[in-house]
Amino acid sequence: QITPVLLCGGSGTRLWPVSRKAMPKQFTRLLGQDTLYQAALTRLSGPGWEAPMVVTSEAYLGMACDQAVAAGVVPADILVEPSARNTAPAILAAALHLAATDPDALLLIAPSDHAIPDARAFRDAVMVGAGPARNGQIVTFGICPTRAETGYGWLEMTEVPDDFAPRPMSLAGFVEKPHAARAEQMLAAGRYLWNAGIFLASAQTLITAFETHARGLMLPVRCALADATHRHGIVRLASGPWARAEDISVDYAVMERADNLCVVPFSAGWSDLGDWNAIWREGSSDESGVIIDGDVTAIDCHDSLLRSEVSGLELVGVGLTDIVAVAMGDTVLIAHRDRAQDVKEAVARLKARE
Ligand code: GDD
Ligand code: MG
Repeated sequence: QITPVLLCGGSGTRLWPVSRKAMPKQFTRLLGQDTLYQAALTRLSGPGWEAPMVVTSEAYLGMACDQAVAAGVVPADILVEPSARNTAPAILAAALHLAATDPDALLLIAPSDHAIPDARAFRDAVMVGAGPARNGQIVTFGICPTRAETGYGWLEMTEVPDDFAPRPMSLAGFVEKPHAARAEQMLAAGRYLWNAGIFLASAQTLITAFETHARGLMLPVRCALADATHRHGIVRLASGPWARAEDISVDYAVMERADNLCVVPFSAGWSDLGDWNAIWREGSSDESGVIIDGDVTAIDCHDSLLRSEVSGLELVGVGLTDIVAVAMGDTVLIAHRDRAQDVKEAVARLKARE
C-alpha cells in the first residue's frame, strides 16, 4: 500500500492574477471543474492506496480541508507548517511522521499543481516503481523533454531507452534548474528526461537520504514534530524549531546528491501548468487554437487564451494572435504567450509599489 503525500504549500506567481499568495494555483480551477488540488486528491485515491496525507501551511489549511470534503476525499493526517520552508522540510516531516508508525511505508510525494490527464496510466507507472522503492531506491518519474526548460529538474539516464515503456531504469545524475546552455545541451544529448517532481520511496529510505545529504534539517524538523499539537488528524508543527529549518527544495537538498535514484519513464501526458502558456497548451481550444472562459467574445483570434472571472465584465478580443488575457478582481493581465514566464516580473513590480 502506498501513502500519497500531497504537497500544497507553494504559491505560483506566474499564474497571476488567478493564482496569488492568498489563493495559490493548486486551489484554483485552472482546467476543468475541479481545482488542481482536488484533481490530485482524486488521482491519488482508490484501491491499493492509503488515504492521502496533506502537507500545507496554516494559511491554506481551511481551503485544503474544504476542497477535500467537496471532492469526496477524506485525507489521513494533515501536516500544517507554521511557515513555508520549501519542499525539503515538508517532505522530511511527512517521512518522519509516517515512519513513527511504519518505517517501511511507501510514500508517493506528489505536487498538487500538475495536470495528468490519464490518472490510470499514472497509477500504473507508480506501481511499476513500487518494487525498487521497497528495495531502498528513490524512484523518480521521467518525462520526455520537448524544450530546453530551465525551470525543471533533469534526470540523466545511464542508457538511452529504445522505447518509452514504464519500467525502472537506473540514473547517473540529477540536475535541478540548469542554466539555459546546459539545458540546451541536455536536450540535444537525448539521454535526459524531465523530473516530474514526483517521488516514490519508503519513509526510511527518505529519512536516511536526509540524514546523509541534509543533516542540518534533521534536528529542527524532528523537534517541530515532537512538539506538534494533534487535533482531529490535524498535526500543527511547532513554529520555534520549524523556523530553524533551512528553506530549501528537496531537489537541491537531496536529489542532486543521492546515488540511489532510479526513474520510471512516463509518457501518458504531464504538465506542470507553470504559466498561462501551459494552461493554453493543456486546455481544450477550438479549431483556431482559442480558449475562452467566462464572459468572453473572441473575433478572428488565433492561438490565444481569453478568460474573465469578473461577473458583469465582458472581455472582447478582436484579431488577436498568441495572446493571453485574464481578467480577475480589479486586474486585467494582457501578455504575449511567449512572455508568460515573465508574469512573475509584473507581480514583483506591483508588490514593490504597494
Ligand atoms: N507543503 C509545502 N510547503 N508545499 C510546498 C512548499 C512548502 O513550503 N513549497 C512548494 N510546495 C509545493 C508546491 O505547491 C508544489 O505542489 C510542489 O511543492 C513543488 O514545488 P514548486 O515550487 O512548484 O517546485 P518547482 O516546480 O519549482 O520544481 C519541482 O517540480 C518540477 C516539476 O514541476 C522540482 O521537483 C523540479 O525538479 C521539477 O522538474
Ligand atoms: Mg512547480
